[in-house]
Amino acid sequence: MAVIRNIVILTGAGISAESGLKTFRAEDGLWEDHPVEEVATPEGFARDPALVQRFYDERRANIVAAEPNAAHQAIGRLDAQFGGELLIVTQNIDDLHERGGARRVHHMHGEGLSVWCRACDVRHRWTGTLGDGPACPACGEAAMRPDIVWFGEMPYDLDRIFAAVAQADLFVSIGTSGAVYPAAGLVAEANRGGARTLELNLERSAGSHLFDETRLGPASELVPQWVEEVLRA
Ligand code: NAD
Ligand code: APR
Repeated sequence: MAVIRNIVILTGAGISAESGLKTFRAEDGLWEDHPVEEVATPEGFARDPALVQRFYDERRANIVAAEPNAAHQAIGRLDAQFGGELLIVTQNIDDLHERGGARRVHHMHGEGLSVWCRACDVRHRWTGTLGDGPACPACGEAAMRPDIVWFGEMPYDLDRIFAAVAQADLFVSIGTSGAVYPAAGLVAEANRGGARTLELNLERSAGSHLFDETRLGPASELVPQWVEEVLRA
């Protein structure tokens, strides 16, 4: 195998499924009991802010109660031991990568434990609720929203993400259905840049045909195996 100096990992809800956090498009997925347009769009927030605040209050409580699983911990070991370039781009809003030991993490859809004040633009770490309209610690206004990139909003630092993918030797996608752009477009960018592309997922995804290799199974088994392969190489 060619020397791997630069890895980009993309993760989705599937890597946190075994930590008890619901994915979005499974039968019991989040979008089953909450139409996306009601709870994950700026229009939904404008229409019924209390509903959206309650939805993310529930997400926040579930994140706090969850624990990183073997997949998060394996990526934490990779981050600590891999001497090359590494970027972990996650679509997830939980902090399980960080609690699993990873440091080089970028949340392209925002963070569930961060809130953003629309009055003063300051972000705060937040593990409580917003539904009861707490005052912003910085400006005192009751104007805080979840620090989430909703449908129709633009993810953070897209150019940084695409630049990293274009230079990667290895692009690994873990636990994502490949249903949402621009995340779903990263594998094509990796292929254009000449990277080897590997998918680790419970089932085939919308993008499986774009990967050099797809391994099917639970992340808690596939990810530790793959990390050991990389660290032994
Ligand atoms: P999209 O149209 O690419 O979404 C594709 C899939 O997401 C659809 O197949 C559907 O499953 C779901 N989806 C998107 N919008 C929906 C809607 N209004 N109603 C029902 N299902 C919907 O997503 P997009 O709107 O083009 O995304 C644009 C931006 O929003 C992107 O930059 C993306 O990163 C961001 N985003 C954020 C979140 C989040 O919850 N944090 C979710 C998805 C997208
Ligand atoms: N191990 C590995 N993969 C798993 C596991 C598991 N234990 N459980 C589920 N999966 C896979 C599913 O097969 C599916 O392909 O994870 C994927 C989850 O897909 P989605 O529910 O669509 O979640 P995701 O791909 O992260 O959604 C992308 O859409 O609605 C937005 O904001 C939301 O960021 C999310 C984005």
